[in-house]
This record gives sequence, C-alpha cells and structure tokens, in this order.
Amino acid sequence: MAELFRPFWWHDNALHLIDQRVLPHREHVVACRSVDDVAAAIRSMQVRGAPAIGCTAAYGMLIAAQQAFAAGVRPHAALAAAQAQLDATRPTAVNLMWATARMRQAAAQLDGAELIERLHAEADAITAEDLAMCRAIGQHGVALIPPRGHVLTHCNAGGLATAGYGTALAPIRTAHEHGRPVHVYVDETRPFLQGARLTAWELQRLGISLTLITDSMAAVMMQQGAVDCVIVGADRIVANGDVANKIGTYGLAVLARAHDIPFYVAAPSSTIDLARSGGEQIPIEQRDPAEVTMCGGVAVAPSGVAVANPAFDVTPARLVSAIITERGVITAPYHEALPRHGGH
Ligand code: MRU
Repeated sequence: MAELFRPFWWHDNALHLIDQRVLPHREHVVACRSVDDVAAAIRSMQVRGAPAIGCTAAYGMLIAAQQAFAAGVRPHAALAAAQAQLDATRPTAVNLMWATARMRQAAAQLDGAELIERLHAEADAITAEDLAMCRAIGQHGVALIPPRGHVLTHCNAGGLATAGYGTALAPIRTAHEHGRPVHVYVDETRPFLQGARLTAWELQRLGISLTLITDSMAAVMMQQGAVDCVIVGADRIVANGDVANKIGTYGLAVLARAHDIPFYVAAPSSTIDLARSGGEQIPIEQRDPAEVTMCGGVAVAPSGVAVANPAFDVTPARLVSAIITERGVITAPYHEALPRHGGH
C-alpha cells in the first residue's frame, strides 16, 4: 500500500495538523485545542483543501462539545455557535458546511458523555469515509488516464487536501500503484503556490514523476502535445455540473477545450451541492491582497497598488468532460447524473 499523508490527526484531546503554510521547507505540526484554534487554522490555510477542512471542522465541533461539557454549559448552544464560527471561515468549499451540519445532526437528541462519544465517532467516521471515497475515486478514475499518462493538475488535490489520499491525485496515485506510466505537469498555482509547495512535495515523496510549471506555461505545454488530460479537484459542484475550484481552473478548462484535451474533475459526494442550481450561486472567497503583492515574504508589486484576489473560479459544466466520484464516472447531462452520485 502506498504511503499515506495524514495532514491531521486527533491525539491527546487535540486536533493536530501539518502546517501547510510552511511546507515544503518545514514539516511543522500545530495542535488545535479550541474552536478558535481550529477556525484560525482553516482561515489561515494551515489546513486547506475542501475535504480536509470538512474533516478538521468536524473535530472543531467535537472540541466545542467537550469544552461545554467540562464547563457545565449546554452543549447544543456551544455547537450552534461553533458551527456558525467554523462555517464563516471559508465560504466556497461546501464540505465544510456539510461536515458541521452532519455533526449537529449526530448530536441531536443526545447529551452528556453520550453526546461527546457520538461526536468523536462521527468525526472519525467523516475522516474514514473520506479516505475510502478518495480510494474509490482512484479506482474509477484510473481508467481515464491515457496509456502515456501525461496529466496536468492544478492546486493541490492530493493527500494533504483530504484525509490522506487525494481526489485529483487519486487516479494518478492508483495508476502509479498499478505500475502504469504516469507523469504529472504541476501548475505552481499562484498566489498561494499549492502546486509548487504541496503537490510537488507529495508527488516527489510518492516517487511519481513530475514537471513543475508556472501557470502561464500550461497553454504552450498543451500546444506542444505534452498533456494528455487535465484532472483537477473541486470545492463545490452544483446541480447543473458547474464546478468551483482553485482560481485558474476555469482558464485551464478553456485551454483544454481549445486543444481538444479531456478535462476531468474528481471529487467525493461531500463536495456535491444539489441545493444550488448553477455556478452563479456559489460564494467565492476573496482573500487578502497581500497574497498577491507578496511572494515568499518578498514584495513583488509597488505598495498601494489595487489588487484582486478571488481564491476560486467557476468552470461551466459544458467544459467538463467527466466528473469522477466515489461511485463512478459521470458525463453530461450532469443535472441527471449528479443526484445518483449522492450530494446534499
Ligand atoms: O484554497 P485551497 O488550497 O483550500 O483550495 C483547494 C482547491 O481548490 C482544491 O482543488 C479543492 O479543495 C479540492 S481538494 C481535494
């Protein structure tokens, strides 16, 4: 079995996580012992990636209940407050709100030690299910990787972004585990550099061959015939098949279509939001302008310049060749196929 990346784990009544802001230079572990700690870790992107923030928010809900229990206050009021605080950290990835709502539901009708036990089991189950869903995505998606196996990916949708196996990286990892040739073009993914810092680090550790490129090189790689397919993850897939993912994903989908290259989206059912009908309804997180004006702690723009920093974009369903979930591979019309693949 290939090596797992455990980006977070529960130990000694605290949520521990690998600080993804300082990878690949440092493997630093932080311990979150309060809801404030978990909310700050998600907001600052010490932990990031849609499934991973869902799992860690679930443990944040467990912490809220434990602390209420210890202080002798009503856990249900504490859980409602924690849900509101955690949901407000990052608006785009629906896995976050899905996980906190699931924890609230698990706690309903319970109290005292029984409630704590139940929430602990539920957070562990959310994490274990994510791992299983990602492995299934790998099994289904591996068939889509062409024989030469040259795949371009964007951002980090690997072990670090999930409970340990990844979504977009799952078919790639599975192909590698099966001994099939696979080579990954990794977009650096400005401004947060998830591709350069995290995906390159993961693939190197797994022994999977890769070439790191800047985002602006994707077009010429496709034009030169270097790329067989694109596989990306998702933060939210809505009922008509529109996909929110890391900023730059939409541009890649347009490029893939222009070069007649398949563009695949890999995501578990926890990312499918059937309550929203189209991509225009997806809230897009706007982040600190300093992420754009600075790079590696160095200013790269004149001070005072106007900056836009949307963290995600929406790729219209018509540009998506197929969506890979834990239940299989879906093609258009997505509004018919997606409800059969779960979602909420
Ligand atoms: O801002 P991030 O790093 O949390 O964005 C992550 C992405 O856009 C991923 O592609 C997505 O969450 C899927 S992760 C399996």
